[in-house]
Amino acid sequence: LHIAVLMGGWANERPVSLMSGNGVADALESRGHQVTRIDMDRQVAARIAEAAPDVVFNALHGVPGEDGTVQGMLDLMGVPYTHSGLATSVIAIDKELTKQALVPAGIPMPGGRIVASEELFEKDPLPRPYVLKPVNEGSSVGVAIVTDESNYGNPIRRDSAGPWQEFSSLLAEPFIRGREMTTAVIDSADGPRALTVTELVPKSGFYDFEAKYTDGMTDHICPAQLPEKITELCLDYAVRAHKVLGCKGTSRTDFRWDDAQGEAGLFVLETNTQPGMTPLSLVPEQAKYCGMDYADLVEAIVAEALR
Ligand code: DAL
Ligand code: MG
Repeated sequence: LHIAVLMGGWANERPVSLMSGNGVADALESRGHQVTRIDMDRQVAARIAEAAPDVVFNALHGVPGEDGTVQGMLDLMGVPYTHSGLATSVIAIDKELTKQALVPAGIPMPGGRIVASEELFEKDPLPRPYVLKPVNEGSSVGVAIVTDESNYGNPIRRDSAGPWQEFSSLLAEPFIRGREMTTAVIDSADGPRALTVTELVPKSGFYDFEAKYTDGMTDHICPAQLPEKITELCLDYAVRAHKVLGCKGTSRTDFRWDDAQGEAGLFVLETNTQPGMTPLSLVPEQAKYCGMDYADLVEAIVAEALR
């Protein structure tokens, strides 16, 4: 096949996307496919038209690329592409819209609300500890955990470093104490299948951008050592989220679990429609645990795009 691998672009996650895209392109070449690597710019439609690939492998993360823009362009061009389509991407990139889709389907997610960053300088939006995050970023870009409980009621200082400097509004959610997990889902002719559960144990305590992409900064426990019921719930919620959102090819659903609260302490944080494919990424790691190496995984995602 001739496969155009779309990567890079101008999202905050550009460096992550270049790692994903080049990894995918290398794997496809190793399997004998013809590959065109495209670092997305404003001329991307013309470049894809010129390359005339059989299929586009979308290795973009963040906005634009994971948010429906590129999906809509490829729909108009009539070029098949990997991963989720336009409508799913629009919803899943937005953590608030995702909640509106998943919570009514019986999938527990933390409460919270969107606050104007200005509001944070007047009062805490929620009891501490709480999390602030942009609604549509990935890789923990712009995430802050406001933990200083003794300071509750004293608002964030306007001149302090934090995502309120860059983003005019943020999603505020109660911080879920305890453990962090993730589950990959892969589509096949038999329908979507959850792979396993990985627990992430960042050495710094926070699974932020650095902990995600620096080798040795986070222990990945795959499969996670959890009570059977919690494992079952993670697998079930991940498949249900994939179906409710209408994901395609693959998705990865992230969790936090307050283990002091038992089953009631398990929450879905979000579903990623363009999960990372870097050397430290979690979908390839879970696929490997299930006997599928990186190139097998990439080929399976391409096959789904053409099915
Ligand atoms: N946003 C990153 C790439 C992920 O979900 O893996
Ligand atoms: Mg994400």
